[in-house]
Amino acid sequence: MSALTARRRGRSLITRLAVREKGLERRILRGLEQVETRLQECAREADDPRLAAVVGHLITAGGKRLRPLLTLLGAEFGDPRAPGVIEAAVLSELVHTASLHHDDVMDEALTRHGVSSVNARWGNTVAVRSGNWLLAKAAQMSAGLTPEAVPLQADASERLVRGQVRELVGPAFDENHMSHYFDVVSDKSASLISLSLRLGAIQAGAPARVCDALAVYGEHLGVAFQIADDLLDVTSSSADLGKEQGKDLAVAVASLPVLLVLDGGRPEDEELRTLLSDPAGLSGERHLRALTLLRRSEAMDRARVLMDERLARARSALADALPSGAPYEALDALCDFVANRTA
Ligand code: FPP
Ligand code: MG
Repeated sequence: MSALTARRRGRSLITRLAVREKGLERRILRGLEQVETRLQECAREADDPRLAAVVGHLITAGGKRLRPLLTLLGAEFGDPRAPGVIEAAVLSELVHTASLHHDDVMDEALTRHGVSSVNARWGNTVAVRSGNWLLAKAAQMSAGLTPEAVPLQADASERLVRGQVRELVGPAFDENHMSHYFDVVSDKSASLISLSLRLGAIQAGAPARVCDALAVYGEHLGVAFQIADDLLDVTSSSADLGKEQGKDLAVAVASLPVLLVLDGGRPEDEELRTLLSDPAGLSGERHLRALTLLRRSEAMDRARVLMDERLARARSALADALPSGAPYEALDALCDFVANRTA
């Protein structure tokens, strides 16, 4: 990907945050360009042209680069030019990309970031092994950062995998389905979002209290981000998403709206509940019908309320500990971005 494309992509997300201080916007854009260059280098460092092509596939295809942006914003609470900031941002995107290699295998996804998924193009085994390589590469990078980076990255990776396994296995017999859902999304999504912020702030030498507050903000933002993802799976087109619409229903993943329908017991959701109770997932007409019913269901509004609650908690983590200024405003605006996500 050219630096120009990277700059445009960076600008699209940072610009939507409407930061008033242009210096901040410029620094973030410059940082994202460096991240882009370094990500491409990482793929080439695979030292084997075929592995480099596989690990570079999703990196080149793009994505929002939310996690590197968060790392760079976290670093704004210290010295954003400190050594290790860019590497920390790269590390967060490498872990994210590794998780997508694995996730797309589990979801049997055909597309990701608007291109064929790694599993669709090279098969499941290659997708998993190359995902492992990306995770190993991230671990290698963490060893070059401040001493906290290795245990923090290890913890987040452990949570990512635990969350995904717990989602796959489902709640225990006596476990509350809703708390299981929140545990899963905290682990599989929020852990890395939280790490991205914290690691940027730590590399930049921000005060411990600020690093901790950013981590708490990231945990809440991450849960809200995943709820938004669940909602978009129902409401957005495949073209907007760059991945298939209705995938959660197709592979019987208990997304938040689905859980709220199943637990709600509302008589008007009876047909939908019957469709959703198929453990094999849905395809064809039944999939379309379930999507239509889910879109109309009150569970979508209730999921939005739960997302807004998380965003309010994210905002209060900011208000409790962070100094006011442009980076604060950008993080506050990110809550609006998540609430209004379209892709
Ligand atoms: C997308 O979820 C996937 C994640 C948030 C992380 C998945 C984690 C793993 C597969 C564990 C393995 C991780 C590593 C680092 C090896 P989703 O399916 O809800 O969202 P989607 O709609 O984007 O697919
Ligand atoms: Mg998925």
